[in-house]
Order: sequence, then C-alpha cells, then structure tokens
Amino acid sequence: TLPKRVRIVEVGPRDGLQDEAKILSAEIKAEFIEMLAGAGLVSIEAGSFVPQKSVPQMASTEEVLQRLEAHGDLRLSVLIPNLHGLIAAQSAGAKEISIFASASETFSQRNINCSISDSLSRYAKVAEEAGRSGLRLRGYVSCALGCPYEGAVSPRHVVWLAGELRAIGCEEISVADTIGVGTPLVARRLIEEVAGEIGMERVAIHFHDAYGQALVNVFACLEAGVATVDASVAGLGGCPFAPGAGGNLATEDLVYMLDGMEVETGVDLGRLLDAASYICARLDRMPASSVARAMATR
Ligand code: HMG
Ligand code: MG
Repeated sequence: TLPKRVRIVEVGPRDGLQDEAKILSAEIKAEFIEMLAGAGLVSIEAGSFVPQKSVPQMASTEEVLQRLEAHGDLRLSVLIPNLHGLIAAQSAGAKEISIFASASETFSQRNINCSISDSLSRYAKVAEEAGRSGLRLRGYVSCALGCPYEGAVSPRHVVWLAGELRAIGCEEISVADTIGVGTPLVARRLIEEVAGEIGMERVAIHFHDAYGQALVNVFACLEAGVATVDASVAGLGGCPFAPGAGGNLATEDLVYMLDGMEVETGVDLGRLLDAASYICARLDRMPASSVARAMATR
C-alpha cells in the first residue's frame, strides 16, 4: 500500500544548482525559491555553506536567505559540512540544517576531505550545537547504492551509518543514491533495512537519475512505506565530487506520478512547471524532466 500523503523535499536550489556551469545571482535564486514555495512546496533546501572555492555556485547562500521572507510553514534548510558552516547558517538565520556523510570512504575523502569516522566526530559537535540552538537536523547518507570511486557499497554499512546519524540527533535521514545506479528491488531492500534501524518515519529517499531509475525506485520505496522524497525541479542536479552523478529525480515527474495515484503532495504541477521554466531560462538549458518535455509539445 502507498502512503496517503508524501512530503517532497525540494533540493533544486541546492543540489540542482551546485553543479551547473552558470552561477546565478542571489536575487534569481530567491525568486526561484519563492516560485517553488508558491507551487506548494514546503520543505526546500535553499543552498549550502561550503567554501566558495569548493562550490562557487553556492557562494551567495547567505544573501539568498536574507532575501527570503519567512512565511507560514515554509521550511527552508541549508546543507553544511562542519562547524564553520553551522555558524554561517546560524548567523544567516537558518532554522534547519542538513549534514552529509558518505557510506564510501573514498567519496568521503573526495567530498569533504576526511574519513567517515572523522566526519561523524565533526558532525556530533555540529549536532550538539544545533540542538542547543533548537535547529532541526537532517542527515544524508551518500553513496548508499554505489560509489563513483569504489563501486559496490555494503548495505550493512549504510544501515550502520544511518544509525550513527540518528544517534547524534538527526530527525530524518535521507538515503541517497548519489550516482543513480540503484534499481527498485535493491533500493527497497536497503530502505527496509535502514527503516529497521531508525524507523520508517525517519527515512527519506534521494535518487539521482543517471540510469533512468529514480522514479521507479521511488515507487518501490513508497510501497515499503517511505513518505518523504527528495526531488529537484526540472531534474537539475549533480555533485561536483561525484562524476556522472546525473540530475536528481525531477520534482514534476514525481508530482505527476503521485497525482495520478491520488497520493497528496500539496504541490500544483502547473506552478511547478513555471518554476522549472524560470530557472532553466536563467541557466540557458532545457528542463531534464519527462513531464516538462511532454507538456512543451502539447
Ligand atoms: P578542508 O579544506 O579540509 O577544510 O575542506 P578546512 O577545515 O581545512 O578549511 C579550509 C579553508 O576553508 C579554511 O579557510 C576554512 O576557514 C574554510 P582558509 O583558512 O584556507 O582561508 N572553510 C569554510 N569556508 C566556508 N564555509 C565552510 C568552511 N569550512 C572551512 N563551511 C570541506 C573540508 C568540508 C570544507 C570541503 O571539503 C568542502 O567544502 N566540501 C564541499 C562539499 C560539497 O559541498 N559537496 C557537494 C554537496 S554533497 C552532495 O551533493 C550529496 C547530496 O546531494 C546527497 C547525495 O546525492 O549523495 C547531499
Ligand atoms: Mg544529491
């Protein structure tokens, strides 16, 4: 059985824009986020606080947050790799932060320049400080279904890492197929094992679509009881440290499928497509979603 309602975590302004060749202004990004919120998205990852030299696309995150008015129940979050990022996020007024650990040792080194175990000690301090200031904390497990450098990743290791992130205080763990290699039955089995460790209500899923498996993986995981799904409008996305990551699952493809199955999302597909067109025009590219392509030819 499928959940009645799915919470979509829109990661377009962060995952979607972090690997694009074109660097957008804070003004455009803030307008983009307002359009996403206007389409009914409530949870939106607005950017990241990482060194400008690592990810120049995210350098204006502070200004993006400043430009956005806190309204209603909008939940804006930011991605941070360490205490430095936490402090920056706090002073920009963020209420929700995400940390990211990798199930693969090599990817951990390439992405955040430290071992998995060092990243956990670092994140424990971040979590403690975040807890003190009442910030909500989300964790990602990257490379959950494969690593661009090491290939196969052990599901037991993913389960262990999810448990560690939960233990330091993450409310929700997003299990991420960073390079989009997973297939439905493997993905569902992994999610069930992770849920056995942290509870299904704390599991989110984050699929990249390199091999065209993202939507079908989501369906398989929804059947297992997942009700929180990350997606990126227009299928934008990728990680500068994961060659071949491919775009994220496109939010409009997800919303189209969920609408068709009468699973509530609170998202208006038409307004979502407007946000996709808006951002793709600024990036000089076409949306990478099936729904945007199909609608454009009707
Ligand atoms: P490092 O070089 O080991 O850091 O990098 P450091 O602590 O030695 O500091 C080096 C310099 O950076 C210092 O400045 C620090 O102050 C500064 P200097 O003294 O040289 O002038 N610094 C910072 N500045 C701004 N913000 C910060 C910060 N931290 C240190 N937060 C580090 C370690 C983690 C910083 C680096 O490796 C890094 O930034 N990596 C970027 C990782 C990233 O953004 N990756 C993409 C997002 S993850 C992803 O896409 C996956 C996900 O979507 C899920 C999935 O699909 O798998 C989430
Ligand atoms: Mg990602």
